[in-house]
Amino acid sequence: MSLAPVLTVDGPSGAGKSSVCRLLAERLGWHFLDSGALYRVLALRARAEGIGEDDTTALAACAAALRPEFEFQPGEELARVSLDGQPLGEGLRSEDTGALASRLAAVPPVRQALLAAQRAQRREPGLVADGRDMGSTVFPDATLKIFLEASPVQRAERRHKQLIAKGLDASLPVLVAQIQERDERDARRQASPLRPAPDAFRIDSSALTLSQVVDRIWGLLQERMSQRDQDPD
Ligand code: C5P
Repeated sequence: MSLAPVLTVDGPSGAGKSSVCRLLAERLGWHFLDSGALYRVLALRARAEGIGEDDTTALAACAAALRPEFEFQPGEELARVSLDGQPLGEGLRSEDTGALASRLAAVPPVRQALLAAQRAQRREPGLVADGRDMGSTVFPDATLKIFLEASPVQRAERRHKQLIAKGLDASLPVLVAQIQERDERDARRQASPLRPAPDAFRIDSSALTLSQVVDRIWGLLQERMSQRDQDPD
């Protein structure tokens, strides 16, 4: 029996993956995996428990025990996440948490500990998986793999708008530097570095609107799904 179809969308932070994935998951009626949120939840939990960044055994144990709950509200791009029944607030999406998540994500036993939880999200009728290594490592047999890119400045500008809209203070040059630092760490690490799977379609979203990106991926997916129906093995 074939496994449920998976659409993977990988790429650097701020390329528009979350918005694109949420819209596609809603249109398709598929499940959605925000894998970055798992690393972010781990960062918050490890910080709260005072686990050192070099204590890889404790970090992996902490990662394996995480059972976050995700709740998606129609029209909201990002999930509301709770851990042990407690909602995690704005801290989950802060740049600080993203930076710590990126450092912990470079630890191979941490990545290994989160694999099973990610693969368990693959359920009928299908899964849209958003992250850095969805196509290269977590779902190597995905139905369609996308690598979504945009220039660092463009990505920082999007992030800047999001923060300002939330009434938060933000400096564009600082954001550009933070985004570049995080990308470099994600691309340099030994375990599942940020890089397109060889069979991924690369899309540069810099000059495209959100709906153009969504339509492009939708078209590619329809083609793949019809090939899959004709040749289910
Ligand atoms: O996507 P988001 O910004 O929430 O991810 C936070 C961090 O988690 C990323 O910078 C990256 O280091 C890490 N991550 C990862 N693999 C994934 C998803 C996120 O290493 N599949």
